[in-house]
Amino acid sequence: MPNLHIACDHAGFDLKQTLLKDLSLDLKALGLTVVDHGCTSCESCDYPIYADKACSAVSAEASFGLLICGTGIGMSMVANRHPAIRAALCTTELHARFSRRHNNANVLCLGARMTGTELAKAITLAFFAETFEGGRHQRRIDLFSK
Ligand code: RB5
Repeated sequence: MPNLHIACDHAGFDLKQTLLKDLSLDLKALGLTVVDHGCTSCESCDYPIYADKACSAVSAEASFGLLICGTGIGMSMVANRHPAIRAALCTTELHARFSRRHNNANVLCLGARMTGTELAKAITLAFFAETFEGGRHQRRIDLFSK
């Protein structure tokens, strides 16, 4: 089973906990084993630390990640500095679907202060249920990958 490395900062903590609780069966059914890299409370912390922890694990295993901060922007910036990471900040289910189908995104970023809980759940399930289409999309990914 591939791992799903999840991490957040203080702004994303409540949403992380909700997703872990409410989606645990769905994520298991999708073949994912969740690994929680923190943070562990709503106390103010620095998102790059948590993004780097989860992205290092994703890169080492060729698995998946889910990063949550207030906007999702900081997490996605840090994640995309990792050469093996293709992180997508998604605000709709369609973003999630196409980031997997066309971009083979391996990390989903969510903004807990931007996206409501139910939508965040739907985006998460859409992202992890999709598969990459390959073909011309792989060629394009190869053009920006080392
Ligand atoms: C924290 O206040 C906030 O800046 C952070 O969660 C995130 O939105 C950064 O991109």
